[in-house]
Amino acid sequence: MGALTAVSADGGSIDGGSADGELVDGGSAGGGSAAGIGTGASLLHVAGRQFHGGARPVCPVGLTAVLVIGSDRRGWGSGRRGGAQGWGRPPSVPRSAGASTTMRTAAVVGTGLIGTSAALALTARGIAVYLEDADPDAAHTAASLGAGTTDEPSEPVDLAIVAVPPALVGTVLADCQRRGLARSYTDVASVKAGPRAEAVALGCDTAHYIGGHPMAGREQSGPLAARADLFEGRPWVLTPTADTTTETLNAALELVALCGAMPVVMDATAHDRAVALVSHAPQLFSSLVAARLEHADETAVRLAGQGVRDVTRIAASDPRMWLDILSANAGVVADVLEELAVDLNTAVGALRSLAGDDETGRRKGTDGIESVMRRGNHGQARIPGKHGAPPTRYETVVVAIGDQPGELGRLFREAARAGVNIEDVAIDHSAGRQVGLVQLSIAPTATHQLVSALVERGWDVRD
Ligand SMILES: NC(=O)c1ccc[n+]([C@@H]2O[C@H](COP(=O)([O-])OP(=O)(O)OC[C@H]3O[C@@H](n4cnc5c(N)ncnc54)[C@H](O)[C@@H]3O)[C@@H](O)[C@H]2O)c1
Repeated sequence: MGALTAVSADGGSIDGGSADGELVDGGSAGGGSAAGIGTGASLLHVAGRQFHGGARPVCPVGLTAVLVIGSDRRGWGSGRRGGAQGWGRPPSVPRSAGASTTMRTAAVVGTGLIGTSAALALTARGIAVYLEDADPDAAHTAASLGAGTTDEPSEPVDLAIVAVPPALVGTVLADCQRRGLARSYTDVASVKAGPRAEAVALGCDTAHYIGGHPMAGREQSGPLAARADLFEGRPWVLTPTADTTTETLNAALELVALCGAMPVVMDATAHDRAVALVSHAPQLFSSLVAARLEHADETAVRLAGQGVRDVTRIAASDPRMWLDILSANAGVVADVLEELAVDLNTAVGALRSLAGDDETGRRKGTDGIESVMRRGNHGQARIPGKHGAPPTRYETVVVAIGDQPGELGRLFREAARAGVNIEDVAIDHSAGRQVGLVQLSIAPTATHQLVSALVERGWDVRD
């Protein structure tokens, strides 16, 4: 069984045997193969009920595992009691006749960045995709990119994907269901509890609707920014509830698999708390830090180094898009920022004490700041590593290179010649000189090997 790392309910990382999540092997009943959800052995327990696949494999295209977070695990207890601690194959269950079908047709309502990207991925897999948008130009543009057709489907499609702004999901879903557009429905909004509550309030058929959120995106919006591979390898959160039909859950799982993403099953409220913590609050915090620079003295801004660049990178995001997202999750994000404000006040108090003359106060201030820094170390160390793997510590080797074509390529070739894999790379550009400081992240065991090879071949390796 492969490990899968994903966003947890508390925003931390989850790997292999964490108690916070359940990884469901998507293998067939016979074991060994990675055929996918719905082959008979695959079973999910969500909100106290079981979901299982039908007679035919639902996800024949490489869905190997599902991570279930924050679900009611009572149903699994008896089936797993005798097994090894941690992950285990869920118990086999009888197949329910006609519970699922393999997707052949889909509709995308809202052909912007996300909708068109999903449509491109689906058409590439041979699914007939019907495109709709309130703006006909957007739908025609998506169609001209090969994402599907703007014709109306002659019968209900297998799955409709509602890819409109979060505040419109409820009304668009209600309209699609009234028209009988599909047998199952999902959405892709970045927040989950609000759209669902609105769908319920509008009397939508929630048994055939499952919330979804692909954790992938780009700074640009609209169909022209779409890419068929946008979701590849990325987590895609699904938020089924106790009344979600198996057919609908399987249709959504199949969508995720066809888009090359990794399904993560979560409760809608837990999802919204998680994204507030790992995405929405950091976005606002980045904007707030960058806003301090708005009227700062030019000399101060010119001193900006990699630290402030890292912290403020996402402050360049589109305010209108973020207003939509933050409005839909405002209360939860405010809760996170309120907790941050308490920590900020504590840090201010500690700094004031440090700035004073009183020896006891200065000691208290030192302890306070040290505690903030250590807590930050611990939080940062929980962020998943490459490809969702458990967090890994790398060594950084800093090399000065000239700002000219081919230098980076030459440096990478040296690393390859030394047999060292570069795990990550960052470049700090010198403010005054045509020089870049390249920070190569590598496995600690490879440091000596790389540094000696580079020094031997005349590279300017910095301490
Ligand atoms: N952009 C991202 O990075 C990202 C990532 C994950 C999820 N999402 C979510 O995906 C959804 C779409 O975002 P996007 O980035 O693709 O936006 P977008 O602006 O690129 O596209 C939205 C599309 O919805 C259409 N639309 C608006 N109202 C409509 C209606 N009533 N009926 C039909 N179409 C309508 C618009 O004309 C537009 O083409 C949002 O809910 C967003 O929260 C976005």
